[in-house]
Amino acid sequence: MEALALERKAEQNRELKERLLQLKKERNAIILAHYYQRDEIQEVADFRGDSFLLAQKAAQTDADVIVFCGVHFMGESAKILAPTKRVIIPDERAGCPMADMVNVEGLRALKKQHPGATVVAYINTSADVKSETDICCTSANAVKVIESVESDEIIWVPDKNLGDYVSKFTNKKMIIWEGYCNTHDMLTVKDVEEMKAQYPNAQFVVHPECRPEVAKLGDFIGSTTAIIKYCKESDCQEFIVGTEDGTGYQLRLDSPDKKFHFATKYLVCPNMKVNNLKKVVRCLETMQPEIYVPTDVADKARLSLERMLQVK
Ligand code: 13P
Ligand code: SF4
Repeated sequence: MEALALERKAEQNRELKERLLQLKKERNAIILAHYYQRDEIQEVADFRGDSFLLAQKAAQTDADVIVFCGVHFMGESAKILAPTKRVIIPDERAGCPMADMVNVEGLRALKKQHPGATVVAYINTSADVKSETDICCTSANAVKVIESVESDEIIWVPDKNLGDYVSKFTNKKMIIWEGYCNTHDMLTVKDVEEMKAQYPNAQFVVHPECRPEVAKLGDFIGSTTAIIKYCKESDCQEFIVGTEDGTGYQLRLDSPDKKFHFATKYLVCPNMKVNNLKKVVRCLETMQPEIYVPTDVADKARLSLERMLQVK
């Protein structure tokens, strides 16, 4: 961008931030942002986190309004956990293709085939699917959740890559759904090998939503939060990052002197990037789009989320 355009954008952002502060006060609102959001949103968030930390925060907040900057299932989970709050999102088109890969009918059919199995659903699922689920998990607690349930047979939805990763840490029989994250699944062994050749001193840190053969190359495999913590605490000064590029904001904040190379330019979730600062301000102005979950669905789905939050 040329200098003048950059200056204009900076001025616009200053104005938007001022308006946001004013609206937040008027509405008694809290802004929650996932680590994959644009920098301009993470900058103004009251709290940044992965899907687990954000669900926990939504359940605990005493704000009247939650502005959820992430994708749709995250806003839904916040509404389910905090039903008396108003939950608004910057843009209703910010969905998660992986969450859409499993529906209630398909899950019910699988449950019929395996009546003794416990359903463990990644939090990346719709409220309807959660209402047919015994317990939710995120990438940060998946192994602990699996071990916390009594049954030796698990129906796992929807991420086959995370399912494969988790299955290595348990003796339980896992029936794994064929879903995947379009963004993480795009990373290939060839991409990683090329990056390793280019940056021989860097460690490769990778999210388990990546393909098993890619995750296997990791010096460290973990959830978004685990990757951020590992890079901060490690003595290593340079990393090849195998997760969504928004994570760079927190990585650079925590370790300004370390180098982070994203494994490809494709590690960008287009759904997460639908949101921007302007839309955050607009949704607080109009209180739209607002998340609604039918009470009967929310009451059932809440059990699966609350069970997850209780796992230590
Ligand atoms: P976490 O927030 O659990 O790391 O999940 C990554 C993700 O893809 C969220 O949509
Ligand atoms: Fe869904 Fe993947 Fe985007 Fe997360 S990164 S919201 S799992 S598509």
